[in-house]
Amino acid sequence: MRVLSGIQPTGRFHWGNYFGAIQQYIALQDNQQAFYFIADLHALTTIREPQLLQSYIQDAALDLLALGLDPDRATLFRQSDVPEVCELQWILMTVTQLSLLEKCHAYKDKKAKGIPADAGLFTYPVLMAADILAYDSDIVPVGQDQVQHIEVTRDIAQRFNSIYGETLVLPDAKTLDESAKVPGVDGDKMSKSYGNTIELFMPEKALRKRIMSIKTDTTPVEAPKDPEASAIYLLYKLFAAPEQQAVLAQRYRAGGMGYGEAKQALFEAAFAHFAEARARRERLAADPSTLEDILQAGAKKARKKAIEVLDRVRKACGLPGPRS
Ligand code: ADP
Ligand code: TRP
Repeated sequence: MRVLSGIQPTGRFHWGNYFGAIQQYIALQDNQQAFYFIADLHALTTIREPQLLQSYIQDAALDLLALGLDPDRATLFRQSDVPEVCELQWILMTVTQLSLLEKCHAYKDKKAKGIPADAGLFTYPVLMAADILAYDSDIVPVGQDQVQHIEVTRDIAQRFNSIYGETLVLPDAKTLDESAKVPGVDGDKMSKSYGNTIELFMPEKALRKRIMSIKTDTTPVEAPKDPEASAIYLLYKLFAAPEQQAVLAQRYRAGGMGYGEAKQALFEAAFAHFAEARARRERLAADPSTLEDILQAGAKKARKKAIEVLDRVRKACGLPGPRS
């Protein structure tokens, strides 16, 4: 069973990305053949500063490995290191109806706002289909917002198969558990686009400052407070054991506790939670050649599979081959 997912390097990863996605990807690496890639080609649709893109790609790899993605159990690679995916994208585009892409939300939303969309954004779902189909993926864990793209992938694969005979494996989406939406420093959903994130590996001082900046109401210190209405408490829950959660909830309800104290508890719990990953990240960051070796080895494995699938696809539609 092949599990595959991609994550875009469009910013530094934050707590929402970790609890909503990365942690769950890593949990899937044990029982399956897991392929995870850094979707740098997709990121080109939004990041247009070369140095920034480069550093986001590097940071994404470091973060994933530091957080427990194990290159001996899962295959980690950069999307653009497998050029076969772009070839497959072209072939898939020849069987993709425009009406299917016109319905896709990223394009539709931009168009509705009157923002001109480029061809990259319009055909983004076909590249995503190629990412998935190039490796005979069975299961694709994604957030709710990406489920539409898996349906598009299935539609495209079905169309290809109906024209050229059974060639492509139809994937299933596995929706990530996003029930606990991680709140940002302003209390809204944590998201890069709202500028309210807490990044995963901020330096200690900056992290403390960011946590201290979490917006609070003006309830006086003496007054009892509702923990579930407080972003500080909701964030604390991500890191603390149930008994610790109960203790802090009790402190909220009893009154006499200022938000500063809760923020300090949150800082300590969060810092301890990622301490091991932080140390691992520092070691990896100091050894760029090992990091590059891991990514190259991942790409080699991924390419081997993609070339095999491409040969099948090229043969099915009458192109010369095989090349493997
Ligand atoms: P952002 O909103 O910061 O741009 P992305 O859309 O790149 O984040 O999200 C990447 C993954 O992280 C998705 O699977 C998404 O569901 C998850 N994710 C992002 N923010 C949160 C959050 N606040 N709570 C839970 N999951 C989140
Ligand atoms: N579009 C996805 C996102 O924004 C990232 C992605 C690219 C992806 N290719 C994929 C996810 C293939 C799953 C499978 O989150």
